[in-house]
Amino acid sequence: MPLLLTADPGLEDVVLAELADRGLAGEARPYGYAGLVRTEGDAAGLLDLRSVHHLIRERAHLTLPGRGLGDAVAALSGVAFPELAGGASFAVRVHRRGEHGFKSPDLERALGAVLVERYRAPVDLEAPDLPIRVDLFDRRALVGIQLTRAPLSRRYPKVYAPPAALKTTVAYGLLRLAGVGGRGRLLDPFTGSGTVAIEAAQAFPGVAVVALDIRPRVVAGAQANAAAAGGAGAGRFLRADARRLVGVLPPGFDWIVANPPFGRRLGRDLDLRALYARFLDQAALLLRPGGRLVFLAKRRGMAARLVAERPALRLRHRRVVELGGLYVGLFVVERRISPS
Ligand SMILES: C[S@@+](CC[C@H](N)C(=O)[O-])C[C@H]1O[C@@H](n2cnc3c(N)ncnc32)[C@H](O)[C@@H]1O
Repeated sequence: MPLLLTADPGLEDVVLAELADRGLAGEARPYGYAGLVRTEGDAAGLLDLRSVHHLIRERAHLTLPGRGLGDAVAALSGVAFPELAGGASFAVRVHRRGEHGFKSPDLERALGAVLVERYRAPVDLEAPDLPIRVDLFDRRALVGIQLTRAPLSRRYPKVYAPPAALKTTVAYGLLRLAGVGGRGRLLDPFTGSGTVAIEAAQAFPGVAVVALDIRPRVVAGAQANAAAAGGAGAGRFLRADARRLVGVLPPGFDWIVANPPFGRRLGRDLDLRALYARFLDQAALLLRPGGRLVFLAKRRGMAARLVAERPALRLRHRRVVELGGLYVGLFVVERRISPS
C-alpha cells in the first residue's frame, strides 16, 4: 500500500520537491486532502525528510454514508486490522476537518470499542503496537497505520518556545521557496526562537546565516535553541531592529527569509503596516540584485500592496499556507536587477 506523508497545508509542493531530490514521485493532496502527499516507497528511507511531520501506511479510503457518529463507525468498522488478532495493542487517533455530528474523541472511543470486541485486542494509548490513524474530511475517511511516533518535525528540544514559533517544516519550506542552497548569505530578520536560522544551518550547511530579533531576551532564547539543536554552524544571532539595518549589516544578502509579527499583539493596523513597509525598504537595500525575499503576512492584501509600491521589488509568487489554523500569505519576492 502507498505511504501518506503529512505536511503543512499549502506546502505540499515542498514535499514533492524533496521526494524528487531522491528520485521519487508523489501526489499532492490525494483525494483532495490538504496537508497530505502520497508516495510509494520504503518508509525507512524517508525518515529524514525535512518537510514532513508523519509517515502513514495507507490502509483504506472510504466515503461515509452521512456525517453522524453511527455513519462513521458503520463505514470504518468494515476496515480489517488482522495484526490485532495476534494480541497486538492499538490506539485510534482521529484527525477531523469539516462538519460532523461528533467530536474526534467520540469516534476514537466508538471505533476502539468495535475493535476490542472484534479482536479482543488491548488498547494502549501511550505506546500502541498498531497506531491506527483516521483522517476525516467531511464525508471522506482515510485510514492508515501511523509509522512515526513523534513528528519528524521535532528535530531538537526547544528550550525556548514562544507561541508564535514556526514549525521546522515550515521554516524548511520557506528556505526552499527562497531557493536557499549551496554557498551564500542568508538573513533571518525576525528570528524569534531561531527556527529559520537553525533549520538553515542544519539543512544548508554551506550557507552563512545572520539572525536577529529586537528583543534581547528572545535573542538569548534563540541562541539556547541553537545550542540544544547541536550548536555548531547555527548562525550568528544579534539584537537588532529589522526596520533599521542599513549600516548595521553589510548589504549583498542572497536570501532573506522573514516571519514578521502577524500583528495580533501590535495593536493598531497602522503599526503593522509601518513595520512591514520599513522592513521591505531595508530588504530591498540589503538583498543583492536577483536576491530573494520570502516572507509571511497575515494581512495578505496589505503585504501585496506594499511589495507592489516598491520599484526595487518584484513579486514572483504568492500563496496561502495554513499555520495552526491561521491562513497566512506567503510571498516570494525578488530584488530587481535594475529597478523599472
Ligand atoms: C512571529 S515571531 C517569529 C517567530 C519565529 N519564526 C520562530 O519560529 O520562533 C516575530 C518576532 O519578531 C520580533 N520583532 C518584532 N519587531 C521586530 C523588529 N522591528 N525587528 C526585529 N525583530 C522584531 C519579535 O520579537 C518576535 O520574536
